[in-house]
Amino acid sequence: MSGNFYIATMGCQMNDYDSDYLAQLLQSSGYKPVEQPNSADLILINTCTVRAKPQQKAYSLLGRMVALKKKKPSLIIGMLGCIAQQEGKNLFKRFPELDLVLGTRELERIEEFLKKIEIDRDRVVATELDRNPRSFAGKNGYYKGRVKSYISIMEGCNNFCSYCIVPYVRGREVSRAPRDIMKEAQHLVGQGVKEITLLGQNVNSYRWNEGEELDFPGLLHKLNRIPGLKRIRFTTSHPKDLSDDLIKCFGELEKLCPHIHLPVQSGSNKILKRMNRGYSRENYLNLVKKLRSARSDMAITSDLIVGFPGETEEDFHLTIDLIKKIGFDNTYSFKYSDRQGTRAENMDGKLPENAKGARLAELQGLQKQITLEKNRALKGCQVDVLVEGKSKKGGQMTGRTGGNKIVNFPSDNNNIGIIVKVVIKDALANSLRGELVQEPAPQAG
Ligand code: SAH
Ligand code: SF4
Ligand code: F3S
Repeated sequence: MSGNFYIATMGCQMNDYDSDYLAQLLQSSGYKPVEQPNSADLILINTCTVRAKPQQKAYSLLGRMVALKKKKPSLIIGMLGCIAQQEGKNLFKRFPELDLVLGTRELERIEEFLKKIEIDRDRVVATELDRNPRSFAGKNGYYKGRVKSYISIMEGCNNFCSYCIVPYVRGREVSRAPRDIMKEAQHLVGQGVKEITLLGQNVNSYRWNEGEELDFPGLLHKLNRIPGLKRIRFTTSHPKDLSDDLIKCFGELEKLCPHIHLPVQSGSNKILKRMNRGYSRENYLNLVKKLRSARSDMAITSDLIVGFPGETEEDFHLTIDLIKKIGFDNTYSFKYSDRQGTRAENMDGKLPENAKGARLAELQGLQKQITLEKNRALKGCQVDVLVEGKSKKGGQMTGRTGGNKIVNFPSDNNNIGIIVKVVIKDALANSLRGELVQEPAPQAG
């Protein structure tokens, strides 16, 4: 098989990882990547359906790609990821030009399906969810030049938060074998990757018990021992599974970055209950306290939903109050949107769009202020920055602190992939500006 391929990726980091996985498979079987869909023979759209917005984005891109196919009938178009999983063969009815619908656990069969499409000119739909995680299939050189990368350590989710589509489109939780994860980590480090982010919808419920017993803190300990690996991160953790052992890791493992993304969703116990989150506001505050005592420089980020069915002004103000109490470094916040087949879809007390919009604006205004204050508090501090590359601004390099904040600093050095010391001089809403600390030259004699 040969030709040019183009992959468009939307949604969460899991989809970024999946697109990299597919790109490696395709390159290994003779396809070449291209930057523009116009020059592709194969176009894959890796989609997300977690909210209405990413869903619309995927459909509008698919519409444009279908228009390309009208000019170039030999073009093969595939819809992958969470929309593909949910809609299955229905997509062929809406888009008869589509050739492939590939669900979230079927990626490793892509070559087999492409052959079928190319040779038999057949359409293929594959959306089996009850499949084990695929095994590692890295292509040498693929990650060359990248400082950071992802590894998926578990797939699926068993939590069924009442608003969320993910358990329906990613299937039940399954963890990957530790030996497979270690092999992939070593492979990445061998290609020059310095920072690995472990991925899972519910990453901290990782557990392996076939032959060897290993939980998530155990896996972190193993990864921390890999020579050449400089930083470890993970996302996304669920508050209800954040054990004391995991919190202890932040104090013990020198490679584990002092940052956790810990979605709280709401500050009201009534809403948390309706969301089926399995913790209370008080539990969450207690976790934050423990995390900050494990590491005083712990950065905490979160996800929030406003306008969940039944959310009163009082509930919303409990969320605002929680944000102020905790002082998140940053948050991602969304208006609640109905997802087909979820429990919240059928709940009473839906809010009008404008009410949700007003709450979202208030929350985001507050968070912006807090983020800026947090960033300003770093002025004058010395931080460790893993240099990722050249900044868009000329003569500057860019990287991140352990707390995941972007730092730009003037440097003409080629220090990509190195952890440098930077003193923060200025704080903006989304990044910091700093100056390199000049290491004193070694004294002779
Ligand atoms: N596994 C992660 C992330 C899931 S999706 C977790 O458990 O937190 C990412 C975020 O999208 C969620 O944290 C939530 O804030 C948001 N989200 C999910 N479903 C949503 C919906 N129906 N409406 C609005 N936001 C939603
Ligand atoms: Fe969705 Fe909840 Fe699972 Fe996260 S934990 S993926 S929000 S069901
Ligand atoms: Fe979206 Fe699927 Fe990720 S719905 S958030 S791409 S798991």
